[in-house]
Amino acid sequence: MTYSFEPRILAICCQWCSYAAADLAGAMRLQYPAGIRIMRVPCTGRVDILHMLKPFEDGADGVFLSGCLLDDCHYKNGNYKATKRVAYTKEILAGIGLEPERLEMFYNSSAMGPQFARTCRDFHERIRLLGPSLLPAQAQSA
Ligand code: FES
Repeated sequence: MTYSFEPRILAICCQWCSYAAADLAGAMRLQYPAGIRIMRVPCTGRVDILHMLKPFEDGADGVFLSGCLLDDCHYKNGNYKATKRVAYTKEILAGIGLEPERLEMFYNSSAMGPQFARTCRDFHERIRLLGPSLLPAQAQSA
């Protein structure tokens, strides 16, 4: 019997660049794993630490934010704020015994459909190699 693990991943994308890149990837019929769910937000700078942690509690195996390229955020510096919050949230994940690599920050312009699809595939493979998150099981036993 073979074990196949299909990671559940939440991609939080800003509407101006990364969501458009995801759209472009779809229009170009570029493949990326079906286990990735995309959530559109006005700007990654709006994404709070709790927004990154809650998906893990709800069963996600990985979460990534994808914003505009640095210095191209439509709200000036939202992606810089998000980058700092992601780094801090990684420390929280490590503190609760979850691999910080399960959370990441990426940057994609609206013209980067192929790069967005590659980002999805690469992150999916990273999480697949890490295996399922044990957080929901830990949360239930607490
Ligand atoms: Fe895209 Fe701020 S609008 S990261």
